[in-house]
Amino acid sequence: MFSRAGRNLFCSLAPFNAYPQAFQTQAPRYFTAAVSSISSQVDGIPVKIFNENGSKRVVVTKDLPGKRWLDVLVNADCRVEVCTHPDAILDVAKVKTLISTRCDGVIGQLTEDWSEELFGALKSAGGTAFSTYAVGYNNVKVAAANAHGLPVGNTPGVLTETTAEIAAALTLAAARRVAEADVFMRSGQYVGWLPALFVGNLLQRKTVGIIGAGRIGQAYARMMIEGHKMDCIYYDMFPQPKFEEYVTDYGKFLEGHDEEAVTIRRADTVENLLREADVVSLHCLLDASTTHLMNAERLGMMKSNAVLVNSARGPVIDEVALPGLAECANAVILPHIASASLWTRGGMATLAASNVAGVLQGFPLLPDGGDVLKFVDGPLGSEELNYTPSIVNSADVPSWVK
Ligand SMILES: NC(=O)c1ccc[n+]([C@@H]2O[C@H](COP(=O)([O-])OP(=O)(O)OC[C@H]3O[C@@H](n4cnc5c(N)ncnc54)[C@H](O)[C@@H]3O)[C@@H](O)[C@H]2O)c1
Repeated sequence: MFSRAGRNLFCSLAPFNAYPQAFQTQAPRYFTAAVSSISSQVDGIPVKIFNENGSKRVVVTKDLPGKRWLDVLVNADCRVEVCTHPDAILDVAKVKTLISTRCDGVIGQLTEDWSEELFGALKSAGGTAFSTYAVGYNNVKVAAANAHGLPVGNTPGVLTETTAEIAAALTLAAARRVAEADVFMRSGQYVGWLPALFVGNLLQRKTVGIIGAGRIGQAYARMMIEGHKMDCIYYDMFPQPKFEEYVTDYGKFLEGHDEEAVTIRRADTVENLLREADVVSLHCLLDASTTHLMNAERLGMMKSNAVLVNSARGPVIDEVALPGLAECANAVILPHIASASLWTRGGMATLAASNVAGVLQGFPLLPDGGDVLKFVDGPLGSEELNYTPSIVNSADVPSWVK
């Protein structure tokens, strides 16, 4: 299948964690601490401890960017223990060791397996609060958290534009063969301008297809529609009338300036979208309904020179259907960095900390989907922040938590 679609330009993010990104700026050093820390160990696992005398023990399984998140936890009288173990991904045994015999709350990572074993350990340690440091929570078994009466926080909203930007970057890089051309230059092969050297595809006035038109899908679509005047077709279980109205109004704006309008349409099926779109971008969450949503059969339905972008989760594409992707010169492959802007990663830290601190202080739980930006930018200590910003199972946790 893949050779038939040999002219397809593939972009992929999550499945290939081992590959270096195309270009890396000098990373700013932003891991500053609001308060001084001491180094210690929890049963042999190294941690740094902030606010040692805080009355509630909160474990953070990876160091987080920015300092506001730490202020949030310290202001809530938390002793914060940040794991500094060198393993990129902590296994269940190490997280259990960190939880130990007494733990009030945890900020975990999307690479950790948050299921019955860890929620059981947290509950046994007297824990009442948990937040993942991510918007997607496919690694968190919410039913297991519910069984222990534990709220599950996530960090929506602050990833939207940042993730959409990397999807746009991948789209442009694939359509215009940026990665291939970069390798060519670095290997000293460039001699001079040639009419057919790395000819790619123009995006302007083509059709962008969005699978999963939620926050990130819509933000990405607007970048492609407004930037490249692309028509839009989307597939989502739910119609998105406000999104459609926005694009339709933008089309009228263009007409008012003597330009052709752009159009938007909701596809009845994924297949219909695949047959029409010049760019297909995946923005659905990962669950049973979206695992291997892009399989060999559906890849074969795409236009032969279409671009496929995955900035959702790796398993949304059946990787077996993409044999030889790593050797495929026209693929653009990044590590899992779609949310890696300084503002976003700091905002995620603040939201995760606010989820844990909010539960520990008895603040009302807000469901995923609300306006969270005041928690990121609002004045610390103000009454409007006396809420728990984003709890995905807020309807299910017992009233004593609320
Ligand atoms: N690569 C990264 O670094 C990165 C960063 C942020 C988010 N993400 C992923 O992006 C996902 C979307 O984030 P968001 O904030 O836009 O979430 P969202 O909840 O706003 O949007 C998800 C959309 O997917 C739709 N959807 C669900 N099942 C579907 C299906 N079977 N077919 C089509 N559409 C379906 C939902 O109706 C919703 O509109 C996250 O769940 C996460 O997995 C990845």
